[in-house]
Amino acid sequence: MSGTVKVGFVPLSAVAPRGVLVIFADKSLAFGPAGRKTLGAAAATVKRAAAAAKFDGKRGSCLDLLAPQGLQVDRLLVIGTGDQGRLGDDDFLKLGGAAAGRLKSGGSAAIVLAELAGGPLTPQQASSVAAGVRLRAYTFDRYKTKKKDDEAAPTAPVSIAVKDVAATKKEFAAAGAVVDGVLMARELVNEPPNVLFPVEFARRAAQLRRLGVQVDVLDVKAMTKLGMGALLGVSQGSAHDGRVVVMRWNGGRRGDKPVAFIGKGVCFDTGGISIKGAAGMEDMKGDMAGAACVVGLMHALAARKAKVNAVGAIGLVENMPSGTAQRPGDIVTSMSGQTIEIINTDAEGRLVLADVLWYVGQKFKPQFMVDLATLTGAIMVALGTEYAGMFCNNDELATRLAKAGQTSGERLWRMPLGAEYDKLIDSKFADMKNSGGRHAGSITAAQFLQRFVGETPWAHLDIAGTGMAAPSTDINTSWGSGFGVRLLDRLVSDHYEGRR
Ligand code: BES
Ligand code: MN
Ligand code: ZN
Repeated sequence: MSGTVKVGFVPLSAVAPRGVLVIFADKSLAFGPAGRKTLGAAAATVKRAAAAAKFDGKRGSCLDLLAPQGLQVDRLLVIGTGDQGRLGDDDFLKLGGAAAGRLKSGGSAAIVLAELAGGPLTPQQASSVAAGVRLRAYTFDRYKTKKKDDEAAPTAPVSIAVKDVAATKKEFAAAGAVVDGVLMARELVNEPPNVLFPVEFARRAAQLRRLGVQVDVLDVKAMTKLGMGALLGVSQGSAHDGRVVVMRWNGGRRGDKPVAFIGKGVCFDTGGISIKGAAGMEDMKGDMAGAACVVGLMHALAARKAKVNAVGAIGLVENMPSGTAQRPGDIVTSMSGQTIEIINTDAEGRLVLADVLWYVGQKFKPQFMVDLATLTGAIMVALGTEYAGMFCNNDELATRLAKAGQTSGERLWRMPLGAEYDKLIDSKFADMKNSGGRHAGSITAAQFLQRFVGETPWAHLDIAGTGMAAPSTDINTSWGSGFGVRLLDRLVSDHYEGRR
């Protein structure tokens, strides 16, 4: 794995500050009991420094003191919390992230006091701080042969000082599993496309077997037998064979219908014969962010032993131009039997998802299906990098997803579906065409997918703007964001668990 950091827990009552000390405060600089005790007379030094630096205590701001007089520590970091009465779930994640962002590689070990002016954080809040540290500390440096010191990410261990170590550790057993899932997804998205081609991706997904996930890999022969002509048409131009990977975690009651997650895994998207321009094409290594999220999510669910039956299925291909590539004008037959006229070989993600959605719907009869895909450039025109687009045929599922988006901070904006849009992908020669033209590009892509889901409650998340190349945040500086893992883990834990 790439750069990560060790996070542990120690009791707040017995903090022996050395190295870097991190304290949370708003602009009043009212510290909690452990902070007051630790700072002692040095609190006056901090106040002076805060005034000189015009520390305003805004959320995520920072007062950075080196070798403060009267303290044993090398460095004291006061991280601003803003209004402490109004901190939500994902704010504690951000506070941990903001703290980690001030620590440098090659620096000393750090201790973070998990308290506010009013007293210690709850085990859940403290666990979120720890998760935020780990999320922020991740760097993808696997291919850097010269590692620099003093990069903005800690490498020395970080201890979170908490009121109840045992209870916080218990919380973090689950939260840490989710972090591991996010980091796994990021790692897959960041990997270069010469390393992470479909067979290699499938091999990495198969490692989930270690956690008790049942993993089946469909090769070209198996997919041909199933009639997955839409997926195989995309794949046929590449020297790398495609794969479908089906992951199953059975943590729920035997016989309970599973929840299902489906991911677009285009390991590289050149556009095919409808080839893309050169500018920025290297980003198309991330066109498998949906599949990466599904793998990371399955990791999270299995590692925290979620009480749910879950299926994850990913369609892995490479979209290349070649003498064997599919052409505009080709007509392919999907596994569902519906025929598709290829208008643009660059609208390949929907072709891959069409067969995987149909396969999962038929084989597992799930409670719902959620697919994730870096499907359209148009979703970035509409929503930028703040929200992923959500298309949904079921209001209850849409509401639950939107809520999970708010609480996790991985936000979704619902977009419309409708018969008028659906008409735009009718074809002169086949049952449908794979592109509806420029207008409503994200919606017509979703309409296309909907033709392969039948009556099953379903949501499509277009993560082209959020899954990769998203701007850095308090909890992520990596190119691949791992978007969707925390969101969907939250969806599952809020609504689909608890019965065994
Ligand atoms: N993978 C792309 C969408 C994409 C673009 C993701 C930029 C992330 C960043 C997708 O396969 C694609 O090429 N979509 C086309 C569809 C069009 C040909 C109908 C698009 O968005 O231009
Ligand atoms: Mn494309
Ligand atoms: Zn694509």
